[in-house]
Amino acid sequence: MATAPAKLILCGEHAVVYGRPAIALPLADVRATATVTANYSTNESIINAPDLGGRWSIAERPDDPLSGLVKTVIERFGISPQIEITIRSAIPIASGMGSGAAIATAIVRELLALSGQTLPPAVIAGLVYESERGYHGTPSGIDNTVVAFEQPIWFQRRPNLPPLIEPVAINVPLTFVVGDTGIRSPTRLPVGAVRERWQADPVRYEALFDQVAALVVAAREALATGDVPALGHLLNTNHELLREIGVSSTELDQLTAAACAAGALGAKLAGGGWGGVMIALTTPDRATDIATALRAAGATNTLVTTIAPAAAFFPDR
Ligand code: PMV
Repeated sequence: MATAPAKLILCGEHAVVYGRPAIALPLADVRATATVTANYSTNESIINAPDLGGRWSIAERPDDPLSGLVKTVIERFGISPQIEITIRSAIPIASGMGSGAAIATAIVRELLALSGQTLPPAVIAGLVYESERGYHGTPSGIDNTVVAFEQPIWFQRRPNLPPLIEPVAINVPLTFVVGDTGIRSPTRLPVGAVRERWQADPVRYEALFDQVAALVVAAREALATGDVPALGHLLNTNHELLREIGVSSTELDQLTAAACAAGALGAKLAGGGWGGVMIALTTPDRATDIATALRAAGATNTLVTTIAPAAAFFPDR
């Protein structure tokens, strides 16, 4: 069995599509798993995904992004197609937690283990990126990258170059409460809406994206020095900018306000927006109260998670 983590975007979503930096964090304790078993009853690989509501052969659903990924990997690594891949995931779908990237990464890791091969995280991220395109259209690449590296990352697209991917140093443990609006929001919808608004008023949106970029730079500094209150302020600023960019919602605004009223150091929507999840940064002693306040304000689910301190290097590259 192979696994891969969920992720959260700490700051910089949407602006990252337009070449600004963003910081993403893996959630080590919320994971997707993939298990391969032999299946000699057919020549077609089977994907069995009870949490995604289906079991299908890759020939049956050739346009499905996971079918395409499995086909690519088994052909490239000479794996027998007579397999069944069972996927389980604790990550809510279409909610900004990287469910699609985690499932795809777990599949690639399991298929590689089966073939006795290893690949660097950047190559796994590249394979998963292709399947992410099937879901999102034009993803920036941040989700597949943070999930494959399984480390806090700084991510920035560059014209005519591969994206800049750097490890992000975190000096102190960070406690987050994640609140789920319960509203599923496929990322491509808010991403498409932002593109239309940017096309209609590029000057305004470029300026908003620049403001996001400045706070992402400041957030990296706050992470490195362990200045958690400063990071909280920056998350609040990021939420305000995401509202202006037009990707928040009544529910996300209510949950972020409830978290701050309950003592969070800062809160913002995380991911594509319009639904999905928000995150609240807190001291550990306030986490339970904030989770309670989020549920009272309408969160369908809450999760308390701690991001461990991290060094500024990639050990497994
Ligand atoms: O997959 P999500 O919902 O976490 O969103 C990804 C972040 C965006 O910046 C909105 C899109 C992208 O491709 O980077």
